[in-house]
Amino acid sequence: MSLNNLAAQQVLQHAPAAKPRVAIVLGSGWGGLTGLISEPVRIPYHALNGFPHATVQGHSGELWLGRIGEHEVAVMSGRKHAYETGDVTGMKLPLETLQALGCTTLILTNAAGSLRRDMPPGSLMVLNDHINLAQRTPLIGAAASTRFVNMTNAYDAELRDKALQAARTVGCTLHEGVYMWYFGPQFETPAEIRMFRILGADAVGMSTVPETIIARHIGMKVLAFSLITNMGAGMSSEALSHAHTLEQANAVSDTANRLLASVIASL
Ligand code: HPA
Repeated sequence: MSLNNLAAQQVLQHAPAAKPRVAIVLGSGWGGLTGLISEPVRIPYHALNGFPHATVQGHSGELWLGRIGEHEVAVMSGRKHAYETGDVTGMKLPLETLQALGCTTLILTNAAGSLRRDMPPGSLMVLNDHINLAQRTPLIGAAASTRFVNMTNAYDAELRDKALQAARTVGCTLHEGVYMWYFGPQFETPAEIRMFRILGADAVGMSTVPETIIARHIGMKVLAFSLITNMGAGMSSEALSHAHTLEQANAVSDTANRLLASVIASL
């Protein structure tokens, strides 16, 4: 393999035989997936050129290589959020690295607030589309020949079907819906949440969309899941906080990770 991506070369120094095909980014509540990786090699992000120095509580900042079932995977435990610095390109190099290593499919996971009363905290949702409310893009500066990326079917329909099938196998309910990217880091106001509901979103969160855009730009297929940790601001009496997000996420993480492992096995 000829690699002009420095981080990809660094990964292969740690794991010379690695040939991952599926890349996974773990958000809040999804970290338990690393416990299902066999023969893991763990590489701290600081050993990889251009990987994020994760700062959000609950994200450890390591790339895991290994197997889940029959599949070789590359799992990013910890991601860069645009709200940390205002830069929306923080995941560009890591995702390009995973693609350079051979990953053709990207599975994104996040924690999100619900905009639907029939999707309470503890629910799982597979994304069928998104709304880029922030109207920010990681593609500024991309080559003119590649920058007009088609975002129809950005969340691959076939992969979504496999996720719904995996949910039946695992015996959990998997909602389908539209994810709204809110830049953050402050939570939404109740008026914003009312607006998002009118606009047709089902869940709201502060990640994933820039990563989906990057992945589609470089031709990776995308599957994405939200773990619902709370109702949107103003929809319930509970106070929103990051601690509450993590607490709720932990309560459902077993089911979420069984679902994820089952989806990966079916790819
Ligand atoms: N809003 C935005 N991001 C989130 C939320 C929310 O309510 N819950 C978890 N992540």
